[in-house]
Amino acid sequence: MNAPPRPWLDATMPVPDRVAALLAAMTLEEKVAQVHQVANPAPDDVGGFGTCIVASGEHAGNVRDAGTQARSVNALQRRAVEGTRLGIPLIVARDVIHGHRTVFPIPLGQAASFDADLVRECARVAAREATADGVRWTFAPMLDVAQDPRWGRIAESWGEDAWLAAHLGAAAVEGFQGGPDGGRLDQPDAMAACAKHYVGYGLAQGGRDYAEVDVGPHVLQNRHLRPFRAVVDAGVATVMSAFHTIDTVPMTGHTALLGDHLKGDLGFAGPVVSDWDAVGELRQHGVAADLADAARLALGAGIDIDMVSEAFATHLVDLVRAGVVPEAQLDDAVRRVLALKFRLGLFEDPWTPEDRAASVQLTDAHRALARRAAASAVVLLRNDGTLPLRPGLRRIHVTGPFATARAELFGTWTLDGRAEDAGTIADAVRERYTAPGTEVTVDDHRFGDETLVRAREADLVVACVGEHPLRSGEANSVTSLDLPAGQVEALEALARVSRRLVVVVLTGRPLALERLAHLGSAVVLAFHPGIEGGHGIADVLSGDVPPSGRLPSSLPWTTGQVPLHHDQLPTGRPLDPDGDVGRYRDHRDTPAYPFGFGLGYADVAYGEVQLSRPVLAPGDVVELSVQVTNAGAEHAALETVQLYARAHRAAVSRPVSELVGVRRVALAPGETRRVAFELDRTTLSRRDARGDLRLEPGLFTLQVGPHAGAGPTITLEVTAAP
Ligand code: GLC
Repeated sequence: MNAPPRPWLDATMPVPDRVAALLAAMTLEEKVAQVHQVANPAPDDVGGFGTCIVASGEHAGNVRDAGTQARSVNALQRRAVEGTRLGIPLIVARDVIHGHRTVFPIPLGQAASFDADLVRECARVAAREATADGVRWTFAPMLDVAQDPRWGRIAESWGEDAWLAAHLGAAAVEGFQGGPDGGRLDQPDAMAACAKHYVGYGLAQGGRDYAEVDVGPHVLQNRHLRPFRAVVDAGVATVMSAFHTIDTVPMTGHTALLGDHLKGDLGFAGPVVSDWDAVGELRQHGVAADLADAARLALGAGIDIDMVSEAFATHLVDLVRAGVVPEAQLDDAVRRVLALKFRLGLFEDPWTPEDRAASVQLTDAHRALARRAAASAVVLLRNDGTLPLRPGLRRIHVTGPFATARAELFGTWTLDGRAEDAGTIADAVRERYTAPGTEVTVDDHRFGDETLVRAREADLVVACVGEHPLRSGEANSVTSLDLPAGQVEALEALARVSRRLVVVVLTGRPLALERLAHLGSAVVLAFHPGIEGGHGIADVLSGDVPPSGRLPSSLPWTTGQVPLHHDQLPTGRPLDPDGDVGRYRDHRDTPAYPFGFGLGYADVAYGEVQLSRPVLAPGDVVELSVQVTNAGAEHAALETVQLYARAHRAAVSRPVSELVGVRRVALAPGETRRVAFELDRTTLSRRDARGDLRLEPGLFTLQVGPHAGAGPTITLEVTAAP
């Protein structure tokens, strides 16, 4: 049988025309195949699906699998392109969340850098490495704004702040997709990004994964939709719907938010993929009578690809033929999928070179970036001057469960990193302190009594503790933010015998470290720092790299305080942190360490804030500037200057602090730099319940400083629009 003409293969045609030509040639069964995603198929399975995911299963984040290689992907593509009637290529997807073979810090760790350029570079490298293994679609960046550290998926987030999540999420999309404005997806080292989990997943009640979410339209628009709006503007190729319900409506069946808002108001033109089995789970939510009903509801709400539930594959042909589902709905979904395949260049070149991976993965340049990213994920919480470690120490003892850890440094959602590629913290300290006369001893604290002997013999002890990656990520919520059982007691014993004790806490989430408040000489927090975590931590401990990490989430004193975030509303009885009336009778109201907090090795002073004009009129741009000085004489500083705004009045209550800008500035000892921000009316605007920008005239207090609630302030007047 002669193959039918394939006009859609003419690459000079505009993509919509190519899509239309191909759609017109497709049977109903072929259309349904394109909206069906399967997991881990074999070549013989090819035919009934349009995309596939390589994953270990529904909780892929902490379960290793065989991974994917170019050869196996090419075998699948060959069957699709050469073994089916229309030869439509597949898209192979994987959760490339924070690196591929070169594992970067978890997103929460990358967020601690407050550095969009760094995030973009890490995503670019991840795409370069993953595409070499045949992956052309990643289910990242996760954009959930997370304010409850009990929720294990905070590890995958950019933290508690919507502005930061929007800026870093957009940077990640540009990195994955190969550039701004949607990138250059047809380049072989670019892969489609996926904004997830649409929307509000970080509000899961009680921090319990998958739990219900209750949120109003203003908070949804201004906190949780903000990062999604930003990445749609950045040209993200796909979106993933979330598992949970909002106000009793499952997101996978949420027509108002998926169809009307995301695809309508925001104009998102790419495919929306459900989360794993989430279409089928509409039955468990109690809104679908059976799998066919789930397929009808999901497609009608705006889901374009059904991830592994089989609902679309099993029932859509019959539902369309029976007139229950309009074929136009199916056609819209298929158009979005086909357009993505054309944009990825898969019709021109579906093949992955099978000799590229070895030369592009885990290169020295990628390791150097991972090391820089790891150092940026380190937040110095307390230091009595013991850090940076001074030369001439006679004996350093490195201990604790993370002292000799390798794969545990990676964090959750690490699918392709290999333990043997990672160095340990102990190795890095030993490597750094090889000077004659300095001895580095190491143990993993299995025998606490032996460790105490070593500690007493040392000039300084570095104790590396914290939570195992298995305790964060999907389906890993906790009821307590304390360090894992036994670790505080072990540290207290160490503190009693150590001359100086530096505590390094590795974690996938903000922890409640109250019991470390007066323990030891210094406390350093490292969000699971990745393959070069050992070097990154040693670089900061030694002062080779100034501590620059800043908290992307507030650290509570105790679990009972959460959810806790800097951009809370004032309430009708605003809290006076210095007052004698608080909210809790049994603990403090403020965080142990606020959003944006992080120390350096030098004292940085903020001078007077200035405005280029005191009034922001329509069409204006006002410049805010401040002098920032490294007041120290010995150490360089890498200061993350943060600008916060507070509206004095609006039609609704606005947060006591809204992050509106970040500048990272390097300062040599004694150096002063002028740091400037440009403000326009959009910077200070809010979204109303429909998502439209609103800005009420009036006064704004602007505060610029080292973290939320700190630094000099100045008042700006916003005048009424004409
Ligand atoms: C998981 C996660 C999602 C991931 C998907 C595929 O359940 O919720 O983030 O991308 O399934 O692994």
